Amino acid sequence: MRKPIIAGNWKMYKTVEEAVNLVRAMRRELNGVEGVESVVCPPFVALTAVADALSGTKIGTGAQNMHWAEQGAYTGEIAPGMLEGWCQYVILGHSERRQYFGETDEGVNKKAHAALAHGLKPIICVGESLEQYDAGQTDAVVRGQVTGALAGLSAEQVAGLVIAYEPIWAIGTGRNAAPADANRVIGATIRGTVADLYDEDTAQAVRIQYGGSTKPGNIEGFMQMPDIDGALVGGASLKAEDFVAMVKLTAAVRN
Ligand code: PGA
Repeated sequence: MRKPIIAGNWKMYKTVEEAVNLVRAMRRELNGVEGVESVVCPPFVALTAVADALSGTKIGTGAQNMHWAEQGAYTGEIAPGMLEGWCQYVILGHSERRQYFGETDEGVNKKAHAALAHGLKPIICVGESLEQYDAGQTDAVVRGQVTGALAGLSAEQVAGLVIAYEPIWAIGTGRNAAPADANRVIGATIRGTVADLYDEDTAQAVRIQYGGSTKPGNIEGFMQMPDIDGALVGGASLKAEDFVAMVKLTAAVRN
């Protein structure tokens, strides 16, 4: 059985103080939920303070990005070893990073290798643009992204990571994918690609989230889908009440 994972991607929101206040407002409630993993991904500067505020709880932390190099002259970048001990997860290849910062499948793949070498679990984001969606290219695009991101990883490594299917046209737009459509892409295309690249056991083990305009009002529809193992939540993860509600609704659907 795959344990659902609800991860909050805070993007470039919240000062350190605001970030700590946000997790203080959520930690008791989240910590009481069984059967669902909850993770928050604050901006880098707030990661240590948030991790401290969550110590002793079962709520996880994640970074939103990292470099693949061990260290070096890469002004403004964060190395995998700098994250070690402060988070268990790292979001890689979010569409905003691909769109605004030139990230490629090749770079995401290097980062995935580096993260795993440092004991960090990647949350690898894939998803098609509106143009690609309209042109009926979703399956080909997503298959290519998954294949590129996972290159050279072992079946065991892939079984332990998380993939987030986030159609770009659904991110921050209020226009979510239909749960059945997201389930099809996640089950047939993403799990199908993992099965082709590895084997059926690996495809059944890897957790795959949906992301894009999820909120308390629509999370249950996604969580009722057999292939969707949680959500990567943007906007709604910035409000304690909403994020807690989404984790609880997931538990209610899945437990
Ligand atoms: P959203 O963002 O929930 O605000 O649409 C999702 C994401 O970008 O991960």
